[in-house]
Amino acid sequence: MKKNLLLRLVTEKGCKRYDFKKLIDKDRPTEERNCPEHGAYTATNFLGEHWTACPKCLEILQEKQEEESLQKQKEAALEREQLKWKAKINGAAIPERFKDRTLDSYIARTTGQKKALAFSKEYAENFDQVMKEGRSAIFVGKPGTGKTHLAIGIALEIIKQQRSPVFVTVQRLIRRVKDSWHTKNETESEVVDVFASPDLLILDEVGVQFGSEFEKQMLFDVLNERYEKLKPSILLSNIPREQLSDYLGERVTDRLRENGGKMIGFDWDSYRKGS
Ligand SMILES: Nc1ncnc2c1ncn2[C@@H]1O[C@H](COP(=O)(O)OP(=O)(O)OP(=O)(O)O)[C@@H](O)[C@H]1O
Ligand SMILES: [Mg+2]
Ligand SMILES: [Zn+2]
Repeated sequence: MKKNLLLRLVTEKGCKRYDFKKLIDKDRPTEERNCPEHGAYTATNFLGEHWTACPKCLEILQEKQEEESLQKQKEAALEREQLKWKAKINGAAIPERFKDRTLDSYIARTTGQKKALAFSKEYAENFDQVMKEGRSAIFVGKPGTGKTHLAIGIALEIIKQQRSPVFVTVQRLIRRVKDSWHTKNETESEVVDVFASPDLLILDEVGVQFGSEFEKQMLFDVLNERYEKLKPSILLSNIPREQLSDYLGERVTDRLRENGGKMIGFDWDSYRKGS
């Protein structure tokens, strides 16, 4: 009982130092008591049965509470940070199953994998420079070799640098353009803008579909606008290099390879089979 009341007196004052002496009427009875931890102290009766507790104990209690409230503030800040992080990943449209595919979780055993990882790390770490140069990249190669994994890894890295990547597959991009024809949500040019504006565009599954003239024109529109704005893009594809150039057209591949834009080959066995 006694302990509870004292606790309440302290907590009501929150983090402020509480001057216990002020509360106590000079005429109240006092008594020499002993704290098993801190030794002798003068206890004052301040209300009925209630006596002041050891001042050192109270001080420690108060410090503990201050610490706890600081800890809570920190946790709340961390939570806000995590929410912001989630919002950014949502903004980047990173697919659910790829949200934890970081550069750190990519296992590089073969020389090719090591090269691809080193390229991705360099690209992400120097993204400021990449943006200045508008340096794009193309990842081509066999399925399951980690093209999407590494590209997402780059995206997650640059989000930390307050940059805005956007991930999209060609199919989705085209679908969104076509949807714009018969909905009022956005116009075709607004769709192009959505993908032409981000700091980095990751365009996945290039060449998976047959590739109609319309599709090629759309890709050209988006990539050309980015090119003109000096904005980098990373294209991912599992069709052979030569076919990719045919598919995209020379105008696009030329633009992507300007300013040191590299084509990285992924020609090892699929990770999906289990290594
Ligand atoms: N070296 C690696 N270390 C860890 N995980 C890997 C590695 N390579 C691939 N993976 C994992 O294997 C799966 C397939 O990789 P991913 O989807 O990135 O391949 P891809 O090259 O994009 O294939 P596709 O051409 O079919 O799209 C993913 O879950 C990915 O995280
Ligand atoms: Mg992929
Ligand atoms: Zn004490």
